[in-house]
Amino acid sequence: MNFELETLDLSAASKQKCDALIVLITSHLKPGKDVLSLLVAQALKAGDLQAKPGKTLALYRPVGLACVRAVLAHAGEGSAHEVSRAVKSAVAAAKADNVKKLVICFAAATLDAPLRAAVIAAAEASYVFTTTKSRPQGRVIERVLIGVSNSSALKPVFDRAAAAVTGIEFAKEWANRPANHATPELLAGAAHALAKLPNIKCEVLGPKQVHKLGMGAFMAVAQGSQEPLRFIVLRYHGALKSEAPTVLVGKGVTFDSGGISIKPAADMDEMKFDMSGAASVLGVFRALAELKPAINVVGLIPACENLLDGRSIKPGDVVTSMSGQTIEILNTDAEGRLVLCDALTYAERFKPRAVVDIATLTGACVIALGGVRSGLFSTNDELAAALISAGQASLDLCWRMPLDDDYAEGLKTNFADVANVAGRAGGAITAAKFLQRFTEKFPWAHLDIAGTAWKSGKEKGATGRPVALLLEYLLDSTK
Ligand code: BES
Ligand code: MN
Ligand code: ZN
Repeated sequence: MNFELETLDLSAASKQKCDALIVLITSHLKPGKDVLSLLVAQALKAGDLQAKPGKTLALYRPVGLACVRAVLAHAGEGSAHEVSRAVKSAVAAAKADNVKKLVICFAAATLDAPLRAAVIAAAEASYVFTTTKSRPQGRVIERVLIGVSNSSALKPVFDRAAAAVTGIEFAKEWANRPANHATPELLAGAAHALAKLPNIKCEVLGPKQVHKLGMGAFMAVAQGSQEPLRFIVLRYHGALKSEAPTVLVGKGVTFDSGGISIKPAADMDEMKFDMSGAASVLGVFRALAELKPAINVVGLIPACENLLDGRSIKPGDVVTSMSGQTIEILNTDAEGRLVLCDALTYAERFKPRAVVDIATLTGACVIALGGVRSGLFSTNDELAAALISAGQASLDLCWRMPLDDDYAEGLKTNFADVANVAGRAGGAITAAKFLQRFTEKFPWAHLDIAGTAWKSGKEKGATGRPVALLLEYLLDSTK
């Protein structure tokens, strides 16, 4: 999808030839004398357009306007969240088989965050996954022109948002693919392809190299699958070599059956999304290549399947992680922390300014926070604050959770340095406490995206979260 930004007032918008024109109305609007303004004023006065965010009024070939369809959409006070809601319902109302060119016009002056929200919401509302359809019927909308009162001032924000969309959609594509179309090897291929873009390099390690590094925890998860594991190392170089990088670590379990501690059959297909953390790292790199910011970023993806086999790890097995710590695997379904802990140890070699891991780690996090906010855990207040505010700015929210040492009690065992599970209570936190043992050498944050990475039910599909949050955080870190 192609986004453009232009300076448009309502009178200019009324002359736009397009398949659909969405007019975003806020309570701050002072309607002028043009046709569109009069139409809006009438609709509001008559109560046909309610002044509530998300309410819309659709018109067909309205007299005096050059568009085929117009949708008046109320965006409340004009906050980012309200604009997002308005754009989503207006795109749904305007969606038809032949809406190729769409114009979204802010009827009143707007700010950075609402503009960003409009771009991301327009993309979201029109996204279609087609890779595994025999007769793909992809997205119909080809061009989206966003009209604002001051396009030159908003251009940098707009470019960021358009790049975020590219990254979000790259992440969605990979997360949505079923496990047989997104094996560890194919994920590595996607990372390799990214290395063709500016400033990106990619290196992929296989079983032999991973064995040599001593990643016994990661290997333990992979050993039950016929698909060989991959350890993906991506680098984005936008600043001097001497500048410490931010390291992003994405959980890349391309399918999680639970292993010998097998999951129930219902909804098990959704465990193809268990590499959403990895997909978000790929998405961030895709966007970085577009924006070329002056920062350094490393992406680490431990990718493998968690399956059942004669060679699978068994409950009670003890393995040695790359850090040297031994781990008793009491539940083979707590595999995410096993692949991540070795990647976290590997991250030490980059002497990072910060390490953020992103993982669909626990069902407990879904129970705690649902699908609205990702769980945020951090040993560093400054890093936590930066991630929280990046989440707010990008409408990709997270919520900080505790890391009291008392939560680690349940991880104690008589048979190894640490156990990989600690009972049901506080499951998202005990998982984070496990990871924390591998993060002593750098400021660290962990995003549990189990509830936010995909939607279930009729709308089943990847959300592309938290690409927007991570990008916002990384781009702000240059200031
Ligand atoms: N990938 C799952 C977490 C998950 C479950 C995400 C459901 C989204 C929806 C993870 O590997 C897992 O299985 N975690 C276990 C941990 C438990 C065994 C301590 C869980 O949450 O049940
Ligand atoms: Mn699992
Ligand atoms: Zn998992």
